[in-house]
Amino acid sequence: MIERAFGEDGPVVPVIGQGTWRIDGAAREGAVAALRAGLDAGLRHIDTAEMYDGAEAIVAEAVAGRRDEVFLVSKVVPGNASRKGVVAACEASLHRLRTDRLDAYLLHWPGQHPIAETVAGFEALKAAGKILSWGLSDFDVDELDDALRIAGPGAIACNQVLYHLGERAIEHAVLPWCQRHGIAVVGYSPFGSGDFPDPASAGGQVLATIAARHGTTPRGVALAFLTRLDGTFTIPKTVRAARAIENAAAGAVVLDETDLAQIEAAFPLGKRPRNLPML
Ligand SMILES: NC(=O)c1ccc[n+]([C@@H]2O[C@H](COP(=O)([O-])OP(=O)(O)OC[C@H]3O[C@@H](n4cnc5c(N)ncnc54)[C@H](OP(=O)(O)O)[C@@H]3O)[C@@H](O)[C@H]2O)c1
Repeated sequence: MIERAFGEDGPVVPVIGQGTWRIDGAAREGAVAALRAGLDAGLRHIDTAEMYDGAEAIVAEAVAGRRDEVFLVSKVVPGNASRKGVVAACEASLHRLRTDRLDAYLLHWPGQHPIAETVAGFEALKAAGKILSWGLSDFDVDELDDALRIAGPGAIACNQVLYHLGERAIEHAVLPWCQRHGIAVVGYSPFGSGDFPDPASAGGQVLATIAARHGTTPRGVALAFLTRLDGTFTIPKTVRAARAIENAAAGAVVLDETDLAQIEAAFPLGKRPRNLPML
């Protein structure tokens, strides 16, 4: 499994992790077993959020007895992201996750509270040892500029953003900005949140051809592509153990120039949109 530093001076984290949005829609034992199978296969970064209903409680069950292995991330919804609200929301997440700390705590998307307030809450949590780092999600460059001005260099661990083969907009500006400032980029919805290229489509066939060359699957090729650049991570979600193992295997795939050129042709970057796309 390829690993890299999470942010400028952050811990080394595997490039592929595990998402947990909507895992509570499946049978609980299956979801727990899938997360554990992912952990066994090296997917140590687990991404959850207070907004994901019962997901934090399922994560708690999956990581019970092995918390120290995990790079555990949760998120505060913008409505709770006042100076005091962020502290209370984090404490509630810690309680649901049955842990004493988060490895990273993120603002789920930019919201109504001034970012200075949210940052003050994050810094208070960090000083108390309840979070080891903090980051952002769905922040475009102008919002990142504001956050950096307020927090100062080295404070923001990551920006979690939409990134899949059909939506590469972050490559225009957000990704280079984060790379310049030593901020990890965590791509979410790497399989298009369930809308992955059909095997019969032209793009699907390109992925299958490359997958055969590397002894992986089309999804494995996608995950390798989405983590090919400095500072990038990805967090596919599955509630099936076999799929978690398949996703982890992609962490060893290194694409060559021929592969990359074929993917670029099949899934072009496209023009820079006016606003950062998000789910
Ligand atoms: N910050 C944000 O605003 C934000 C927004 C969206 C998502 N996220 C995070 O990013 C994570 C991932 O994104 P996502 O949940 O939207 O979707 P995703 O990971 O792009 O896709 C999940 C879908 O792919 C399927 N799948 C996973 N692995 C597979 C495999 N090896 N073979 C076949 N199918 C496979 C899953 O089915 P099964 O589960 O049935 O296997 C599910 O239908 C989320 O769970 C969440 O943690 C963050």
